[in-house]
Amino acid sequence: MNELAAKIRIDELTRTLNQHNYAYYVLSKPTISDIDFDFLLKELEQLEAQFPHLASADSPTRKVGGDITKSFTQVKHRYPMLSLGNTYSEVELREFDERIRKAIGNDFEYVCELKFDGLAISITYENGVLVRAVTRGDGVQGDDVTANVKTIQTIPQQLAPGNYPASFDIRGEIFMHRKTFERLNESYRKELEAKGYDEEEIKERLYKNPRNFASGTLKMQDSAEVAKRPLDCFLYFIYTDNPVADSHYESLKKAAEWGFQVSDHYQLCPTLDDVLAFIHAYDRQREHLSYEIDGVVIKVNQYHHQQDLGFTAKNPRWAISYKYKAQDALTQLQKVTYQVGRTGAITPVANLVPVQLAGTTVKRASLYNADEIVRLDLHENDWVYVEKGGEIIPKITGVDLSKRSPNALPIRYIAVCPECNATLIRKEGDVIHYCPNDQNCPPQRIGQIEHFIGRKAMNIDSLGGETVAGLFKKGLINSYADLYSLTAAQLIGLELESGEDKKRSLQQKSVENILAGIEASKQVPFERVLFALGIRMVGETVAKKLARHFGSIDALSKATKEEIAGIYEIGEKIAEQVVQFFADPQQVTRVALLKEKGLQLEVDANNQVTRTQVLGGKSFLVSGTFTISRDALKELIEQNGGRNVGSISKSLDYLIAGDKMGPEKLKKATEFNIPILSETDFMAMLIAE
Ligand code: IVH
Repeated sequence: MNELAAKIRIDELTRTLNQHNYAYYVLSKPTISDIDFDFLLKELEQLEAQFPHLASADSPTRKVGGDITKSFTQVKHRYPMLSLGNTYSEVELREFDERIRKAIGNDFEYVCELKFDGLAISITYENGVLVRAVTRGDGVQGDDVTANVKTIQTIPQQLAPGNYPASFDIRGEIFMHRKTFERLNESYRKELEAKGYDEEEIKERLYKNPRNFASGTLKMQDSAEVAKRPLDCFLYFIYTDNPVADSHYESLKKAAEWGFQVSDHYQLCPTLDDVLAFIHAYDRQREHLSYEIDGVVIKVNQYHHQQDLGFTAKNPRWAISYKYKAQDALTQLQKVTYQVGRTGAITPVANLVPVQLAGTTVKRASLYNADEIVRLDLHENDWVYVEKGGEIIPKITGVDLSKRSPNALPIRYIAVCPECNATLIRKEGDVIHYCPNDQNCPPQRIGQIEHFIGRKAMNIDSLGGETVAGLFKKGLINSYADLYSLTAAQLIGLELESGEDKKRSLQQKSVENILAGIEASKQVPFERVLFALGIRMVGETVAKKLARHFGSIDALSKATKEEIAGIYEIGEKIAEQVVQFFADPQQVTRVALLKEKGLQLEVDANNQVTRTQVLGGKSFLVSGTFTISRDALKELIEQNGGRNVGSISKSLDYLIAGDKMGPEKLKKATEFNIPILSETDFMAMLIAE
């Protein structure tokens, strides 16, 4: 696409998507389905990636983890919001202490507080009323997030009468409790699943930790939505022209008296040893707190000392934060085992002597791939450090070489699949080993069937992964096609393994459900059946494109690599996989069986977009190439009450622009101010009714 065309399209997508967002978030009246919205958004993302300088400041792609951000009003802080110098080392802490003693002597104490892992906020109160809340921003000015902060229950909007100054700023940290995070992230996962994202995209979009979630929430434009995601706040600093006390410690007490939530975990510490004791105590306790902390903040208590010490260019000299390292534990490697995934990808797993870490027992850690084993230079029975970072699965960060036995052998990566003995392959430039035996390797076979019954594929939810594995092991199914030959007589009373050493047998009711689910899946539209087949590289979107382009499995199975690769955004690699799939006699037999059993292996023209009058006699000009043929597109226009015209004139209502459209047409359409639609926009028009 040339730059002019890209600009027009980017502007248009930005405007359309922002309108849809407005309708959704502000009016609460969605004007587009989620899937279609995501389609358009993806298109915009791709264009912006190609032409970054054309992206506009209000682009709907600039959002945090699925939330819409708006540009908040920028507000200058009355008192700059500084950050703190930090350290991970006790030696540096000692040096900090020495510097202070040198400057102000020994007659002082520290206040130690927890360093809450959230977002700094500055809240202004006038005559006891919350008037403004501003994020840290660049320290000089930040975002005005008052409306969102007002949803936080523990932040008073109106203080009870008290001896607070007429005007003051109070600062603190906004955070989300771990439990809230887990609950909301889980429902966010469900929401994404329902929108049809695959596992990889879901992992990318899910919030990584409570801090991340709190930050995404605070930046949402709809405060009603913010209120549904409970945030919390600890306050730890008062700024005012006339201090309310002589020391930080007293100020904290005052803040609590005025009705602010101040954490209970702070302490006066006269000596560095007291400081270190506080640090160590909370390193042990922090896993039991309901929220995350990432260290301890140490502040000189008396204000006159703070004044004497002053500031460096960036930080106060009278405070420092000590940051905890990620928690780790030392344990011994028992053995390395290898998991085989649905696609044949091998993942090495370290099986460990169980060890307690951050409140859970760790028995396994992922080793990711062969390179990681080499990087760690892992040997048999090594003592290893396991660490829990922001991620959920623990990882091995290092080996304690002093504990290695002199005759320990290095871990050798396996050469053959642990499940089927096939020789593993590793493609050039790829870090992962694969088992190539996709037709006979049991976990791959089971995985393929699980994929087939999945929600976004055939959606046979009465059959779970466990039942599928059980049926496979009993020899009742060898492939997804065999599901359609199962009978009640085979299933009732069948004993299946369930979890560790437990058995369960299938009862009449669940057998009925299973068979009804299988029967109902015969109505699943072709594009999802195509996705369910599990052809490598054919995800939902590609399946949709292939289905719409070729119309039937017969046409697709006869297509050449070139024909497939010629479809917009399909490409050679995918085409090769498709051709390979249909060249495999085993797959052909399975597909034939599906056909015999009555599955949808053709596009149902009536089902795809029903005939309507939604286009209301408007004229359309179709130009360029699309994922469906131009004729099919024209037919859709007519089926839905539109008119096809052959050339651009001032009276044209819409131009539907595909790929490779001539620049002349685009120029003319722009001159005449004719709305330009993409294929997706057009489809959205049909669905809009
Ligand atoms: S005092 C001038 N106290 O840590 C001192 N900060 O690295 C201002 N933080 O931006 C900060 N807990 O977001 C202070 N108990 C605490 C804190 C705390 C977390 C954050 C805060 C600040 C950053 C400094």
